[in-house]
Amino acid sequence: MKTLSDQAVGTAHGKIILIGEHAVVYNEPAIAMPFLATPVEVIIETIDGDSVISSSYYQGFFKNVPSSLKNIYTLTETICADLNQSADGMSISISSLIPPERGMGSSAAVATALVRALFSYFKKSLDQTSLLNYVDISEKIAHGNPSGLDARVTSSESPVYFKKNSRFTSIPLHVSGYLIAADTGMKGQTKKAVEDVAQQMKQSYKQTRQLITKIGLLTEEAKTAIEENHTARLGELMTLSHDCLKQLNVSNEALDHLVETALKQKALGAKLTGGGRGGCMIALAKTAKQAKRIAHKLMENGAVETWIHALGEDFND
Ligand code: PMV
Repeated sequence: MKTLSDQAVGTAHGKIILIGEHAVVYNEPAIAMPFLATPVEVIIETIDGDSVISSSYYQGFFKNVPSSLKNIYTLTETICADLNQSADGMSISISSLIPPERGMGSSAAVATALVRALFSYFKKSLDQTSLLNYVDISEKIAHGNPSGLDARVTSSESPVYFKKNSRFTSIPLHVSGYLIAADTGMKGQTKKAVEDVAQQMKQSYKQTRQLITKIGLLTEEAKTAIEENHTARLGELMTLSHDCLKQLNVSNEALDHLVETALKQKALGAKLTGGGRGGCMIALAKTAKQAKRIAHKLMENGAVETWIHALGEDFND
């Protein structure tokens, strides 16, 4: 006999790459941040009969989900089978503030929230390793060959420092300030941008390698700035890394315009985040008031959406 909760909730959040994108492909470090301003919530309730799902993409019987939700379907079936529970009789409702296809970890965050909700619904405990393994099942269906970074950061409260083929390390978040993210409204073009950097590496090795090495050094310094609460320096490092990314040709006009807008509004720093050529940019502000003003100006200058994430204690204005 099953003992079910009437309602169970699972949560997660988005991620952004703070610094190190593209260089991380060439074995330099990168730092990703949990972005709590874009939460995801999955609620499961008991119903009679076949399971149903409600999300912004689709509402209806779970067994008829479109291909964009196949990862969620397979994940649910797998967990129910592993826990020896029926996959019928559930109403699964997904609400997410993470924009899809912007490199903000949308699919991993939804999967994380779903795994947590299912384990809570079936009153089973869930350890971090099992959570990551389950999210990986979903991410493999959604993306083919996930690095595991999105799963790690969308379920964590701490920044994550990582290098290709090595362990992810949590960094203690001691930095104060406000991180603003702004969406250009264009899908990011990570794959194309990564391919183009590889091409540049072949064509002008010395110059491209120098830029990659410089981003690596900026990232190492950013780690120290986060650990030792040097917010202003962290901002400078972000802007310097944007300059390198620009020289690597992975920015575009819309991103550059938003970065310049944020800097004109006295952001401590600003840069594109993720693959580039669209997607999102980020800026760092000292106070909540400055962050709100920057977000407002970004909207006036072409952003379609902005979010503000408080990193720590506010400074006095
Ligand atoms: O756009 P995102 O969040 O998937 O980040 C891409 C980061 C790159 O360094 C450009 C590519 C990669 O695989 O690390």
